[in-house]
Amino acid sequence: MSFFDMKLKIALQKQGKLAEGSIGLLRKCGINVSNGLGKLRAEASDFPLEIYFLRDDDIPDYVADGVADIGIIGENVLAERPQPVETVQKLGFGRCRLSIAVPKRSGLDGVDSLSGKKIATSFPNILTAYLHKNSVVAEVHEVNGSVEIAPSVGLADAVCDLVSSGSTLFTNGLREAHVVMRSEAVLISRSGLEGGAARLLDLLLFRIRSVKAAEQNKYILLNAPAESVPNISRLLPGMRSPTVVPLAESGWVSLQSVISEHEFWEVCDELKKAGAEGILVVSIDQMIV
Ligand code: PRP
Ligand code: ZN
Repeated sequence: MSFFDMKLKIALQKQGKLAEGSIGLLRKCGINVSNGLGKLRAEASDFPLEIYFLRDDDIPDYVADGVADIGIIGENVLAERPQPVETVQKLGFGRCRLSIAVPKRSGLDGVDSLSGKKIATSFPNILTAYLHKNSVVAEVHEVNGSVEIAPSVGLADAVCDLVSSGSTLFTNGLREAHVVMRSEAVLISRSGLEGGAARLLDLLLFRIRSVKAAEQNKYILLNAPAESVPNISRLLPGMRSPTVVPLAESGWVSLQSVISEHEFWEVCDELKKAGAEGILVVSIDQMIV
């Protein structure tokens, strides 16, 4: 098979929070996938990519076995069950916490209060290690889904589950008590990926990194008196140096540059002090660094 015939095989979550983020990321990379509802397999239209839609917990197995070359999962999945795969890139979406939650009005609070209690979770290994580290002896009860209903049906005293917005806990009358680990989406690959698949992964990674760089940066435009250009350039060094274009009004320029999103708020006051006005901050789609 020539390089041009081959496809990179990626495993994505079929349904759930990571599914949306994963398809969204590919779309920002210029790769469109007809969404996976009901489908197990799909092809991308603008990149040699074949997509398998799976339960996220199964993705590391498929990647380790070589059925898929790469996959997108939450870090928590690998922490629960380490597999011989490589984490290639943190993706910055799907941020969540694996937390112990207790019924709102229960007296349970400090970690010690969990001693002798029954905790339902789909993450028995992570939870067991956490309890051990805190010298708490509790019963870890493994369940595979709908963890959050366990206390209300009398199956457990507490749960240890993923929390993102907190709405699942809230609607089930639970309160987040202890954060056990934080997690975000990561791109994993089969270890020792080589040849065409490795080259395609490099192309995909290049796009992902451009999208991530763009998300962390803003394009900034402002007007300033010409004499303040040296000062403002120091505040906005940009990728090489800012672009300076004369305004129709003599003695004034428009200055354009790139700045990281969080730095912008730090520098904003100083820009105004340096004479900047009419500051515009614009999103960037792609940033090739
Ligand atoms: C996760 C998690 C919780 C829910 C928490 O499920 O298992 O059920 O999201 O989110 P919230 O705090 O915003 O309510 P997900 O959709 O990722 O699928 P999963 O069944 O694979 O965990
Ligand atoms: Zn899952």
